[in-house]
Amino acid sequence: MFLPLAISFIPLFCLSVAQDFSVPSEWVNTTSTHSWDDRVQLAQSVIDSVIPHYDASKGQLNELFFGQNANLMSAIVIHDSLVPNRTNYNTTTDNFLRVVPSLVPTINGTTIGVTNDPLMWGLTGIYAYRAYNERPFLDNAISIWEQISVYMITRQDAASNSHPLKNITFPLECNGISLAGGVFWNSNSPQNTGINAGTSGAYMALSAYLYEMTNNNTSGDAAELSRQFIQSHLYNESAGYVMDFLDPPTCSIANNFQWTYNMGLYLEAISVYANKTNNVTLTDFANELTVHAVKSTAWNGVDGINTEELPVENVTTNAFSMAYKGMLIRALYEHWSRSPEGSDVAKLIESYIMI
Ligand SMILES: *[C@@H]1O[C@H](CO)[C@@H](O)[C@H](O)[C@H]1NC(C)=O
Ligand SMILES: *[C@@H]1O[C@H](CO)[C@@H](O)[C@H](O)[C@H]1NC(C)=O
Ligand SMILES: *[C@@H]1O[C@H](CO)[C@@H](O)[C@H](O)[C@H]1NC(C)=O
Ligand SMILES: *[C@@H]1O[C@H](CO)[C@@H](O)[C@H](O)[C@H]1NC(C)=O
Ligand SMILES: *[C@@H]1O[C@H](CO)[C@@H](O)[C@H](O)[C@H]1NC(C)=O
Ligand SMILES: *[C@@H]1O[C@H](CO)[C@@H](O)[C@H](O)[C@H]1NC(C)=O
Ligand SMILES: *[C@@H]1O[C@H](CO)[C@@H](O)[C@H](O)[C@H]1NC(C)=O
Ligand SMILES: *[C@@H]1O[C@H](CO)[C@@H](O)[C@H](O)[C@H]1NC(C)=O
Ligand SMILES: *[C@@H]1O[C@H](CO)[C@@H](O)[C@H](O)[C@H]1NC(C)=O
Ligand SMILES: *[C@@H]1O[C@H](CO)[C@@H](O)[C@H](O)[C@H]1NC(C)=O
Ligand SMILES: *[C@@H]1O[C@H](CO)[C@@H](O)[C@H](O)[C@H]1NC(C)=O
Repeated sequence: MFLPLAISFIPLFCLSVAQDFSVPSEWVNTTSTHSWDDRVQLAQSVIDSVIPHYDASKGQLNELFFGQNANLMSAIVIHDSLVPNRTNYNTTTDNFLRVVPSLVPTINGTTIGVTNDPLMWGLTGIYAYRAYNERPFLDNAISIWEQISVYMITRQDAASNSHPLKNITFPLECNGISLAGGVFWNSNSPQNTGINAGTSGAYMALSAYLYEMTNNNTSGDAAELSRQFIQSHLYNESAGYVMDFLDPPTCSIANNFQWTYNMGLYLEAISVYANKTNNVTLTDFANELTVHAVKSTAWNGVDGINTEELPVENVTTNAFSMAYKGMLIRALYEHWSRSPEGSDVAKLIESYIMI
């Protein structure tokens, strides 16, 4: 029930046909007759139905996993920044601040063990700072970013084939290209050296936002290094999608899944970074990712309806995949907001989201 909602939170609204911004004629219902006010109210009524479920002692919904809770709260604070209003400020602030002390490395009394979930909360901090303009949100995002940065492979780590937190007995390169910029997924085990797109993409996005908001070159450098890593190792250029997982000892890639959120996080990261660095090549690339995202047959029907994890009845309770689409729509919204009004890419995004 939470995903379709994330879509309605954003009152606007994406194959390998690079840079074809035309809206396919087969797409259905690419415009809406609902007014802005209607849409704001619809989204708020959904939020109102969720808020009573917050567990005040934990700052989360017990029904959802940790990373999903972050994505839900992100959707709520983005709603507030779009309206704009502070309607949900008390709930989100209260709960966000309750979650934060336990963010890294434990949550709910147990070790999280993975780096991507805290990164999701870091992004929540970014959106909340943007919505409410209060410094603690940004400070928390920075703190999470610093704590996860130690799981990134620096240039020095890659050059020495070692990492302070991992037991590395193999070269930190694949196909002759350094793995610098990759972010380890597991934060518990020195033996687990897997790197996934969700983690590296979320890390790049958080780094790019921090660079945008603070001008701190350290986060700008981190964004660039992660960009190089994803581009060289996880972006399948010929097919136009972000591959899920890299196993450094063997350099094998899990390319049998195509998921919207891997694409979404990378698009969001590239869009923010391109905008901040004023780099036309990267803006073009964000446009290209957009076309792939909205036209990929891996998750879109010819009618433009995103079918990932449908039918809903088949999704197991609390499947993280329920949050995937929301992350893609969020990325499309972020790129739309940085694109010229009325441009082809902006119109394509509007049509897709509206469906
Ligand atoms: C398009 O919107 C109309 C009116 O809301 C609805 O009745 C129809 O089912 C929609 N078509 C599709 C294919 O979803
Ligand atoms: C947190 O703990 C509660 C019980 O106290 C449990 O019901 C819930 O599933 C846990 N949530 C997560 C994300 O582990
Ligand atoms: C803005 O917030 C105030 C106070 O919570 C509320 O009364 C008002 O309806 C909100 N406006 C919109 C457009 O959501
Ligand atoms: C938020 O909390 C403040 C302080 O407790 C209170 O004055 C205000 O009315 C609350 N706002 C909403 C929308 O509940
Ligand atoms: C490091 O990995 C090697 C090979 O997998 C293993 O033999 C060794 O026990 C590990 N060392 C530590 C400290 O975990
Ligand atoms: C930039 O960020 C790094 C890492 O968070 C921090 O150590 C450094 O003090 C920051 N520099 C400035 C000028 O704020
Ligand atoms: C960031 O790097 C640029 C280019 O090297 C430099 O001009 C600028 O002063 C640096 N900013 C900070 C805050 O260190
Ligand atoms: C990229 O995608 C193509 C087409 O789906 C596939 O054949 C190829 O194996 C993929 N590349 C990698 C490195 O997985
Ligand atoms: C823009 O980004 C591309 C890809 O990273 C890079 O090759 C190029 O040098 C950058 N251009 C400028 C003007 O910085
Ligand atoms: C959904 O579940 C039903 C009943 O188990 C099954 O028949 C159907 O094939 C499933 N659909 C998909 C797309 O997995
Ligand atoms: C960056 O995004 C802003 C909107 O947030 C937009 O006005 C501006 O044109 C964008 N600049 C570049 C270089 O993409």
